[in-house]
Amino acid sequence: MCRKLVAFVLFVAGFCSTVRSQTQALDAEGHQWWQHAVFYEIYPRSFMDSNNDGIGDLNGIASKLDYLKSLGVDALWITPCYPSPQVDFGYDVSDYENIDPMYGTLADFDRLQQGAKTRGIRIIMDFVMNHSSDQHPWFIDSRSSRTSAKRDWYMWHDGKGSAEPNNWVSTFGGSAWTMDFKTGQYYYHYFYPQQPDLNWHNPAVHDAMFDVTRWWYKRGVAGFRLDAVDTLFEDPELRDNPVLPGLNKYGDPNEQDLYNTKLPEVHVVLRDLRKVADENNAVLIGETWTKDVNELKQYYGDHSDELQMPMDFLFTKVDRLSPPEFRRQIAAVDSAGGWPVFVLSNHDIVRSYVRYGDGQNNQAIAKLMASLYLTLRGTPIMYYGEEIGMQNTDPVRKEDVKDPIGRMGWPQEKGRDGERTPMQWDDSPNAGFTRGTPWLPVPLIYKTVNVASELKDPSSILNVYRSLLALRHQNRALLDGDYIALNENDPNVLSYLRRYKNEAVLVVLNMSSKPQQVSFDLAPQGFDAKTAHTLLTTMAAGSKASSLSHLPLEPFSVYIGAVSK
Ligand code: GLC
Ligand code: CA
Repeated sequence: MCRKLVAFVLFVAGFCSTVRSQTQALDAEGHQWWQHAVFYEIYPRSFMDSNNDGIGDLNGIASKLDYLKSLGVDALWITPCYPSPQVDFGYDVSDYENIDPMYGTLADFDRLQQGAKTRGIRIIMDFVMNHSSDQHPWFIDSRSSRTSAKRDWYMWHDGKGSAEPNNWVSTFGGSAWTMDFKTGQYYYHYFYPQQPDLNWHNPAVHDAMFDVTRWWYKRGVAGFRLDAVDTLFEDPELRDNPVLPGLNKYGDPNEQDLYNTKLPEVHVVLRDLRKVADENNAVLIGETWTKDVNELKQYYGDHSDELQMPMDFLFTKVDRLSPPEFRRQIAAVDSAGGWPVFVLSNHDIVRSYVRYGDGQNNQAIAKLMASLYLTLRGTPIMYYGEEIGMQNTDPVRKEDVKDPIGRMGWPQEKGRDGERTPMQWDDSPNAGFTRGTPWLPVPLIYKTVNVASELKDPSSILNVYRSLLALRHQNRALLDGDYIALNENDPNVLSYLRRYKNEAVLVVLNMSSKPQQVSFDLAPQGFDAKTAHTLLTTMAAGSKASSLSHLPLEPFSVYIGAVSK
């Protein structure tokens, strides 16, 4: 009897602690740590090189933690630093539970994580779950014979006569099937032939990959960014994809990826992964390329039981400074029912500085875009170097291209080298990134565009980022407030209110090259204030208080002010 009671008490205690770890809230709104955090993506090859071999590494990242802390970053997403033949620069993993010697050791990883933890910074790893490297022991075993115990861990199929099993093309060019002459079958790869797709229909693959996440959680990581989740499953009947008119940049016929992307089974895996994440108070971020907000919605899960943070790439598709288009996109994501996740660029997308810049006002526009996505309701994920206004520096000759898709698709597709150049730390040779030969050339503009010189300039892009992040961290309305669109018919100025109880922050962004004048009536929102208290502005003549009925704006300028009841 007594033993039973003890067991019951232990059970209840265990149950409560599990529940607690799933719902550790930061505030009365029930928000979790990742909802108040600012994430920062690091491409480790290009961040900081500690041993001067020209390639960034974990000790390099560790040496910059103070910088990241003072910038105002709360979590680092490190793109793959696992052992890898580096065909896709780490997205071809040959061992999921180790660090590639070029980036350091597991001990270096632990030290980095410890150093980050001391500063209140969490580490998120990249989980490349759709495919491994063809050099992973699983695949080496799998391809060794048709009877290998690991044969069914990948997708092996007979050809149709002398042709591939079906018409699926790789998103990186060519057929998605490669013939393995030793065993006379084709294997499937959505990406490079060196990245064979794992067979997620096989429960053994499922278990092995789930154990990988547990292994890193035990080491202390706070979550994963899930790579290429759309592509986990393929139609078991291998039906041909519908062919669309025209050719893609690799010269392959255009196809609708109907039978090899976004299959419903993906959501079953995401729900299971989420359970493991919840047990570890961890967050799952998704590389979710969606065609519309309805598709994005599905990644949160019908019962908010899939990804906490599916990235909204539709936001990056708004390719011009258009208030109506941003308004539409923000409103759609804001009302999708989940917590929005905003990104401006990453290691696969041309840097935002170039995408939005008009060639003349790029500095002002970079500050404008920062002010937009760092003040919206949701979690922003920054990309290294964005905070200093790093540009794309694309290769000019095919022979200089490192990213294989750039060689295959040249000159239409120049690859992703341009957005992956080394971080610009100071004006010393190679921007202080390395004393060796950098793996990608450092853009010459580093002499002026670098962390050290921007820290000294109060009006630099870097200092605008620092001010925005500092403001975001201590302002309740920016952290927790609703998003309310204002002046919705204004074609030039994007304005909104972030409202939390009796407080509100007004954000006004002039997206035009002309001076503008705006006025606000906030009575319908419950605020009868006639002036706003200036929190941040990029305008030269910024004053402490501004009239809400008469707010003049310089071209491409930002005004952020507090209003009260
Ligand atoms: C994702 C990564 C990209 C990589 C691809 C294949 O899209 O972001 O860099 O090439 O997956 O793993
Ligand atoms: Ca190095």
